[in-house]
Amino acid sequence: MLKRFRSAFSAFHHKEHYISHEQEIAGKKYVIREISTDDIKDLLQLEREVYAGETPWPRSAFLTELCSRYNHLYLCVLYQNKIVAFVGGRVFFDDAHITHIAVHPDFQKSGIASFLLQEIEAFAYRQRCQTLSLEVRISNIDAKRLYRKSGYEAKKRLANYYRKGNEDALYMVKRVE
Ligand SMILES: CC(C)(COP(=O)(O)OP(=O)(O)OC[C@H]1O[C@@H](n2cnc3c(N)ncnc32)[C@H](O)[C@@H]1OP(=O)(O)O)[C@@H](O)C(=O)NCCC(=O)NCCS
Repeated sequence: MLKRFRSAFSAFHHKEHYISHEQEIAGKKYVIREISTDDIKDLLQLEREVYAGETPWPRSAFLTELCSRYNHLYLCVLYQNKIVAFVGGRVFFDDAHITHIAVHPDFQKSGIASFLLQEIEAFAYRQRCQTLSLEVRISNIDAKRLYRKSGYEAKKRLANYYRKGNEDALYMVKRVE
């Protein structure tokens, strides 16, 4: 109970500072750093490249998340100064919810998303969360496989969760260890 209370309290306090650093993933050197509101234009462009011209998260969604009073961590991955991937996680009580993750098609299948999930897991641990959670489209086979491999378990199916296409979502959870 005390742990739950501490986590809930920490959700509103001491926003941590993620230290930018170089990271080698599958033989390529990237820079990993926190996202700022100045990056939104580039993130929208990345979304278009990932989602065939569409932006599932409009500018307003990025702004809301980046300015949220809930403790959160939004990271991007740069290759030669260009954003090629990003991830976001937000703490709510004792759960760290993964809100978004995307990797540029040219950079997929080289371990970037797996690395980003680990960074969010480490954040969840530091925030004393007990679980990590996320939603994924039922049809998103690649993402579901990645999450299962990373230790997430399907908990329930959320009917018509996505407005676009009225598609169901799978709600997945992993315990923080
Ligand atoms: C889902 C998504 C985020 C995965 O990103 P990714 O960076 O390709 O993921 P990873 O590279 O960590 O893992 C993907 C696969 O590559 C494999 N892989 C990782 N490193 C590798 C390497 N060096 N060489 C070869 N394969 C590798 C992984 O084992 C995994 O294999 P699998 O598909 O057989 O399970 C990406 O496909 C994407 O952006 N999709 C569109 C947006 C989206 O659907 N987001 C999720 C919304 S819930």
